[in-house]
Amino acid sequence: MNVLIIGSGGREHALSWKIAQSPSCDQLFIVPGNAGTEAIGTNVDIDPLDFDKVNDFVKDKLIDLLVVGPEEPLVKGITDFFKVENPDLKVVGPTAEGAILEGSKDYAKEFMKEFNIPTAGYQTFSDEQISEARQYLDNSSLPIVLKADGLAAGKGVIICETQERAFEALDEILAEKKFGEAGSKLVIEEFLRGIELSVFVLTDGTSYIVLPEAKDYKRIGEGDTGPNTGGMGAISPVPFAKGDFLTKVEKEVIIPTIQGLKSRNIDYKGFIFFGLMNVNGNPYVIEYNVRMGDPETQVVLPRLEGDFLDALVKTADGKADKIDIKIVDKTASTVVLVSKGYPGSYEKHKMISFRNEDHSSVKVFHAGTIKKNQDILTNGGRVLAVTGLGNNIDEAINQSYHTIKKIDWYGMTYRSDIGFDLK
Ligand code: AMP
Ligand code: GLY
Repeated sequence: MNVLIIGSGGREHALSWKIAQSPSCDQLFIVPGNAGTEAIGTNVDIDPLDFDKVNDFVKDKLIDLLVVGPEEPLVKGITDFFKVENPDLKVVGPTAEGAILEGSKDYAKEFMKEFNIPTAGYQTFSDEQISEARQYLDNSSLPIVLKADGLAAGKGVIICETQERAFEALDEILAEKKFGEAGSKLVIEEFLRGIELSVFVLTDGTSYIVLPEAKDYKRIGEGDTGPNTGGMGAISPVPFAKGDFLTKVEKEVIIPTIQGLKSRNIDYKGFIFFGLMNVNGNPYVIEYNVRMGDPETQVVLPRLEGDFLDALVKTADGKADKIDIKIVDKTASTVVLVSKGYPGSYEKHKMISFRNEDHSSVKVFHAGTIKKNQDILTNGGRVLAVTGLGNNIDEAINQSYHTIKKIDWYGMTYRSDIGFDLK
């Protein structure tokens, strides 16, 4: 079977690594990929949003399965495109109607309301309702959360501790259009106090399997300080997500979500990422993502045993009930190494020195890397994700940090406290 993966991050390197282990994987291509995926398959320099070009490649290389890593092609309808233009291609990733769960926070909130899925109370305002939005803020308690409706690369959420900040954020989103069209609507949401974690499923729209849960470390600084990033590290499993809580997640969140998609006749074959808050033992949905997380994938996939490519094919074929994947009772940690300055501006093309440390309990996943001649250079904010696997959290994070000592480039930065709060 020939497989094409779309994306270029640590998530896509992890997907490639897992898919390539399947005995039924023949050729593996990654559009556009990074230096890590290049060592497993073939990187292809096509714009993933140029669906016609992707289709030419799919036909030329007799691709059987397309796996879409990031949200943007999904929200822009890549799955719908292939349903029409190349119906024989198997695709893992929802249609645009499903991807809107991530593409519009207002849609997601309205969906949760209709299907009684626990989430923070909210109200949505358009850019023609600025004065109503102000009035609403006047009567809200603090802190309060303001969200640009559309995709804003993880930056469209502003948690406001003061009313002054809330009014400022309202203007930034609705009036100044700081997030462009993503901010033509504003969701104002109640602040939830609790502990965050993420749960993932692989579904064909009817059946599903629950993948290992993970905790992500979003802030750049140690002790969860400083600006938000795409994710500085992750741990799986999450010790506080015990049986009873996960049973509630399945009953109150996962099942009603899949039933909701079904009752809206949405063709959803792919991953659902539930961003959750555990509020006194009860799950609330903070957000839906219609793809796997990055860096969560780098701790979720190492905990899966079985033929992952087969699981993806069964998902795309509508046979998710036949998936045979087991979760390994081990802990995985990943620590993300970033360029100096990230999530602000940073320099690229620094030479990375490392000895290849991959073995059964360590895997160095590439994110923003590029190979030039024989050198591996930095090529993004998040550069590498070093995953350790162990019998417990200590063993896992020791593996990650031990390996990091052998990696270096000018300006390499990372958090040295990933997982420490869970010990
Ligand atoms: P999102 O982009 O929706 O993942 O939001 C970014 C982050 O903001 C989340 O990971 C949470 O830490 C925080 N957040 C979002 N919504 C809320 C909420 N209603 N209450 C508390 N924190 C929130
Ligand atoms: N790590 C969060 C995300 O992938 O959106």
